[in-house]
Amino acid sequence: MESVFVDESPAAVELIPVTPESLHAALEGRPARYARWARATGFTGEAGGVLQIAGDQGELEAVLVGYDVDQPLWMLAAAAGSLPGGDYRLQEAGLTAEAIERAAVGWGLGSYRFRRYRSEPPTDDTPVRLIWPDGVNRERVTSMVAAIGHTRDLINTAPADLMPGELAAEAEDLAERHGGAARVVADPDEVARDWPCIHAVGRASEHHPRVIELTWGPEDAPPVVLVGKGVCFDSGGLNIKPDSAMRQMKKDMGGAATALGLADLIMRAGLAVRLTVLIGAVENAVGSRSFRPGDVLSTRSGRTVEIDNTDAEGRLVLADLLDRAGELEPALVVDFATLTGAARVAVGHEIAAFFASDDAWAAALEEPARAWDDPVWRLPLHAPYRHMLESDVADVVNASSGGQAGAITAALFLQDFVPAETPWLHFDIMAFNTRARPGRPKGGEAMGLRAVFAALEARFGRVR
Ligand code: BES
Ligand code: MN
Ligand code: ZN
Repeated sequence: MESVFVDESPAAVELIPVTPESLHAALEGRPARYARWARATGFTGEAGGVLQIAGDQGELEAVLVGYDVDQPLWMLAAAAGSLPGGDYRLQEAGLTAEAIERAAVGWGLGSYRFRRYRSEPPTDDTPVRLIWPDGVNRERVTSMVAAIGHTRDLINTAPADLMPGELAAEAEDLAERHGGAARVVADPDEVARDWPCIHAVGRASEHHPRVIELTWGPEDAPPVVLVGKGVCFDSGGLNIKPDSAMRQMKKDMGGAATALGLADLIMRAGLAVRLTVLIGAVENAVGSRSFRPGDVLSTRSGRTVEIDNTDAEGRLVLADLLDRAGELEPALVVDFATLTGAARVAVGHEIAAFFASDDAWAAALEEPARAWDDPVWRLPLHAPYRHMLESDVADVVNASSGGQAGAITAALFLQDFVPAETPWLHFDIMAFNTRARPGRPKGGEAMGLRAVFAALEARFGRVR
């Protein structure tokens, strides 16, 4: 992280931002070969394009970077992911201070690599560094980049290396780094007594469940609670997933990873909130101790749930956590979960579906989601669909049989565990890039994090 930015450098290569409209003017006053090379290679200044230009000694002399004026975040992202090792300087003329700061964040996001399981160092290990542009707030940039990198790392980690114990340790580390506190419930008897659904989902695994409660910030500040689904691996349980669906399920703790990354950012920024992060860390495993279709679980709130499908486990984990969240009299509860395939059918892999009990909070996400290119889309908490969750024997079933509106029925299931008056946002996220785009390499991704952070910052501000 440190190594992708540098204070100064004697021999830096210029990065020249261009658009299709500005390309011609941007090359005026430069050697004629710049324009010729652009024409020869078909470089038009389209967003995401990167054109390396050689000097007369064959050295790298300058780089043209195509960008979208409406979305400066990714201006340098493709360059960060593709340029050779060395130091680079952004040519800032004509850019607003805000665009430059966004571009620096994009540089950081585009520099992300996950190398934990590579046995060889990269062939070119000279760092690719950007000279800090004038006037950017370095702390803001590095905080955003580090928080998102942290979330990506957690999701990308192999499931065997990030079971509930390790996830809990991550939360403890995070709390300690920021002077917060983390309470981890690890004793299976205690989990069974106080967090019955989390216990039922996780009890078949030798990696027994952990319930994590992280707290930070001034006690008199408005309480904000983040809740994360931490299913470290989702086999589906006895309703076992087919191979293609199971293949992705290391990312089923993506909600927890997003909540932790967002918490990291909130704490680094010093937002004026009393923060609580609640995570249920489990493995949904197959074994003789697995919970079963037809079982009836009692939840932390006392509501009973008939299990229709053991693969609808995330909502069970969240039910206990949301019930706890409600006790904290929060100004806002936000949960993140890789909850349903149905949300992916509705909005695809690259948009975070969300539900809101509160129209003002839903509206507050719009501007930041656009500004930070963190697309979110609201789906309805359509109460008449509650009938799909009726059980013949218990208060509710955990999965509806019809197969329609699966993201909505999951959200309605959760809503019963949140006090009616509590402002609540529920994010049903992919948490994974299935294709690479500038600044967003294939793999774990922090979806909704930037938009929610910016909305929280706008609403609550910073302490210092
Ligand atoms: N973790 C999955 C949902 C998921 C699948 C998220 C693929 C993102 C990508 C979740 O636990 C699950 O299995 N949900 C089931 C629910 C169904 C059994 C009601 C689903 O969506 O199929
Ligand atoms: Mn599942
Ligand atoms: Zn799951």
